[in-house]
Amino acid sequence: MEKRLSGKTAVITGGGNGIGREMARTFAAQGARVISLDLDEPGNRLTAAQVESVGGECLPLRGDVSMASDVERAFRIAGPVDILVNNAAAWAGDGFLLDVTETAWDHVLAVSLKGVFLCCRAAVPGMLDRRSGAIINISSVNALMGISLAAYTAAKGGVVSLTKVLALQYGAQGIRVNCICPGTIMTESSQHAYPQYKDYFEDLRTLYPAGEYGTPRDVAELALFLASDEAKFMNGSVIAVDGALSAVHNLPSCVAPSPKQG
Ligand SMILES: NC(=O)c1ccc[n+]([C@@H]2O[C@H](COP(=O)([O-])OP(=O)(O)OC[C@H]3O[C@@H](n4cnc5c(N)ncnc54)[C@H](O)[C@@H]3O)[C@@H](O)[C@H]2O)c1
Repeated sequence: MEKRLSGKTAVITGGGNGIGREMARTFAAQGARVISLDLDEPGNRLTAAQVESVGGECLPLRGDVSMASDVERAFRIAGPVDILVNNAAAWAGDGFLLDVTETAWDHVLAVSLKGVFLCCRAAVPGMLDRRSGAIINISSVNALMGISLAAYTAAKGGVVSLTKVLALQYGAQGIRVNCICPGTIMTESSQHAYPQYKDYFEDLRTLYPAGEYGTPRDVAELALFLASDEAKFMNGSVIAVDGALSAVHNLPSCVAPSPKQG
């Protein structure tokens, strides 16, 4: 059977851990040549090794999505890109407004929002040449509900808005831009943080009707669909993968501190 992303090149930012790693594995298993752009070199190498161990192709590149020079270098090395997944994000030092320093705010916005702008700006010219491309932005359920971290939530709201603008600006030229808003996804780093923030995680769990968090696979499968030709009529969509969290009316525990990024 034909693989769904055969012959395609996909750049995934933040592919060195968590959801990004799962997307790298999923896309590569469907025939994509994956480039993972991440600051975390060991994590990125592990992603590449996991992809290669099952016969896929993954090039790990070290780079900071908030630095134009790193992003431009990565896209030069990647060559023509069919699929871009903007997945890297930061939340270190974020929290309640009065606890957020200007430095922390700038960093969170630089990685989580400016990084999306820089990567789109690098990917779109080649997509325009081929009149084809799929961009998938990973936002968060925070953007739909205004919960929790001030800077991160503002950045993720910006990612939703940027998705819609770009879908309209480039839809006529064959580029589709869609956005995924995950709820709580149990990644390795969430598992690592769990003991320290057990009460927070357990309170949060009660807000999910099924009593379970999502998995990286839940996000990766949707991203695969959005990247594939089967999603040709999906453009400018903002889709929650959140086990109905955004359907909840009352969120008493979501103002609790969230795990800090390591
Ligand atoms: N895990 C969740 O519960 C959850 C929920 C909602 C949204 N999300 C979103 O999903 C995406 C992935 O989250 P995750 O939980 O897998 O995170 P993670 O921390 O496991 O992975 C994020 C990756 O991004 C990389 N990264 C960070 N800053 C970078 C930079 N400046 N340049 C390049 N790479 C950088 C990190 O090194 C890491 O490999 C993020 O956009 C996050 O906001 C996650």
